Amino acid sequence: MAQPQKGICAEPNLHSVFLMLNVVEDDDATMRRKLADILALFDYYDSEHYEAMVSGVIAIGSGYWLELYPGLLPIELSPFPDMHCDDRHAPATPADLFIQVRADRADICHAMATDIFDLLQEQVELVEQIKGFRYLDGRDLTGFVDGTENPKGLHKLDVAIVGDEDPDFAGGSYLHIQRYRHLMKRWNKVEVTDQEQIIGRTKEDNVEFDSADKAPFAHTKRTSLKDEQGQSIEMLRQSMPYGDLKVQGLYFISCAASPKPFTKMLHSMIYGDENGVYDRLLDFTVAETGAAFFAPSATFIKRQAKTSMSA
Ligand code: HEM
Repeated sequence: MAQPQKGICAEPNLHSVFLMLNVVEDDDATMRRKLADILALFDYYDSEHYEAMVSGVIAIGSGYWLELYPGLLPIELSPFPDMHCDDRHAPATPADLFIQVRADRADICHAMATDIFDLLQEQVELVEQIKGFRYLDGRDLTGFVDGTENPKGLHKLDVAIVGDEDPDFAGGSYLHIQRYRHLMKRWNKVEVTDQEQIIGRTKEDNVEFDSADKAPFAHTKRTSLKDEQGQSIEMLRQSMPYGDLKVQGLYFISCAASPKPFTKMLHSMIYGDENGVYDRLLDFTVAETGAAFFAPSATFIKRQAKTSMSA
């Protein structure tokens, strides 16, 4: 099977750098080769610093894909589903490339991001660079543990990686990325028991409420969805907190074998249930960016680079 990129299903790291880039030069063959060079760079840092659990992800924006790989399109690749309802917004802010470097050392992340930017500098402009970090025992800055209900073990692959349904793109993954800015002052004024209602879990011990006890506005109620066959709709979340003393939030990343889980859950959060009951978490955090990508398998990136070399 085509080899998925290592960073898609990696266990949570302590540090990460997220790079959003736009391509400004239309030398696509060079770009295809350079993406393969970045995979080699991930491998190099991984072998030099094996204790740091180094990995990374290269993902191509839905609007740039066909320019980079003409004639080959992942079946479900589509633009970010821009959604707005009252004062709840999920804006689309497309970008050509998303590159994530991940490691348990901040210095290694910095070194990798620097090398990547040196390599791409002539072809791209940097839209934004965000440093993600693990906070306490895997908590979001709201104080709640994030990622508990993520798929585990081999099930991660079923959820996050495209299989035989799209053989040309098996081993790839659909990514959705949103940078959320938390309204921390507003959140911190809310009693912990009310915060727990909003998440649908206890704060300190991270115990899930029984489904019947969850408020319809609870985040985990609005995102626990089933398909027509009654099967749970799932995604792999690889989000990380980011920020400083001025701005804090969550860099949300979902990886899935299809874009549908993300779109359905976001719809349920923003537009709410049949009674219009929306996700109350959205009263305390604002999505400032939103972009859709496809992260092809490492095999695909390398193969396309070789084809470019022989062309
Ligand atoms: C600022 C934004 C967000 C924050 C702070 C946040 C935080 C959390 C927390 C604390 C949990 C409970 C623990 C866990 O299972 O991970 C959770 C669960 C979950 N979140 Fe989010 N989340 C955010 C945005 C989103 C978005 C945009 C989606 C999807 C479109 C999403 C999908 C999910 C799913 C699927 C679960 C698991 C639900 C379950 O099965 O119990 N989250 N989130």
